Amino acid sequence: MAERKVILSVEHLSVSFTQYERGWRQTELPVIRDLNVQVRTGEVVAVVGSSGSGKSLLAHAVMGLLPDNASWSGTMSFEGEALTEKRLKKLRGRELMLVPQSVSYLDPLMTVGNQVRKGRKDPESRRSCREALERYGLGEETERLYPFQLSGGMTRRVLISTAVMEKPHLVIADEPTPGLHISAAKRVLSHFREIADEGAGVLLITHDLELAVEAADRIVVFYAGTNMEEAAAEDFQAEERLRHPYSRALYRAMPGHGFQAAPGTQPYVKNLPEGCPYGPRCPDYSGECTGEIEYRSFQDGMVKCSRR
Ligand SMILES: Nc1ncnc2c1ncn2[C@@H]1O[C@H](COP(=O)(O)OP(=O)(O)O)[C@@H](O)[C@H]1O
Ligand SMILES: [Mg+2]
Repeated sequence: MAERKVILSVEHLSVSFTQYERGWRQTELPVIRDLNVQVRTGEVVAVVGSSGSGKSLLAHAVMGLLPDNASWSGTMSFEGEALTEKRLKKLRGRELMLVPQSVSYLDPLMTVGNQVRKGRKDPESRRSCREALERYGLGEETERLYPFQLSGGMTRRVLISTAVMEKPHLVIADEPTPGLHISAAKRVLSHFREIADEGAGVLLITHDLELAVEAADRIVVFYAGTNMEEAAAEDFQAEERLRHPYSRALYRAMPGHGFQAAPGTQPYVKNLPEGCPYGPRCPDYSGECTGEIEYRSFQDGMVKCSRR
């Protein structure tokens, strides 16, 4: 097989927010630290992690949509070139597409057809809009509906149609399945699989590890604003194939593996321990875990753990 081209490369990404305490003291809140993700053509990379681990911020950083009080450092490149603000303006909404977490991104006062076509009325736009909706099982009548008339699954499919209309090279989907029945959720994820099979890269953000394992090629595990592990989706078939104690805890918490929840909770940025953020919950915790920990290759994957 030909070498797959890297579409998105994020290296050593850190994101912090400037906050004011008691009105005048300025503090920096480092919500993402040393984050690394790569997406290649034809590949679905799932980013999994619990709420607050930094998944949406990664998506917003790549899209250049971080709020004004956020700053970032590190490198982000798209098809081998740095993602500058100027370049993002050209790519966003074309080669680079976000399928947003919130369905409120749809305009409540515009029919589906108009939104997907972005108001264009020429025959070519009408035809490609029809094709895109048709592909996701949405008949002609859907074009005349308003967002409030759609079911949750239909809304998700409209958002995906809007994205594929532009033939993107990279699709970032932020939690595309919450609120959906399992069969609708699986169907939505199969659409992202198809988009990748046709040659685009997909960064699939989700807190549902089971669905991620089914739909993705690779899984990147987030915890408290950084990545703990990168594994092939198949590695989640057996606990011993996983590299990080946190991924193993996630594995044991999956419905098919006994639902065993690990004690403790993910720390908030203001209360991070020294070194590994998972340290205080980790069965293998030792003195080495309090220092700086490198993210490195290990057994065909990546791990950020000083005990491996
Ligand atoms: N505008 C903001 N100001 C301050 N902190 C923020 C802001 N947006 C997000 N955060 C914090 O950043 C962390 C990661 O958020 P987010 O990326 O939304 O998590 P996820 O999508 O994984 O649930 C959370 O702790 C959240 O509280
Ligand atoms: Mg989120």
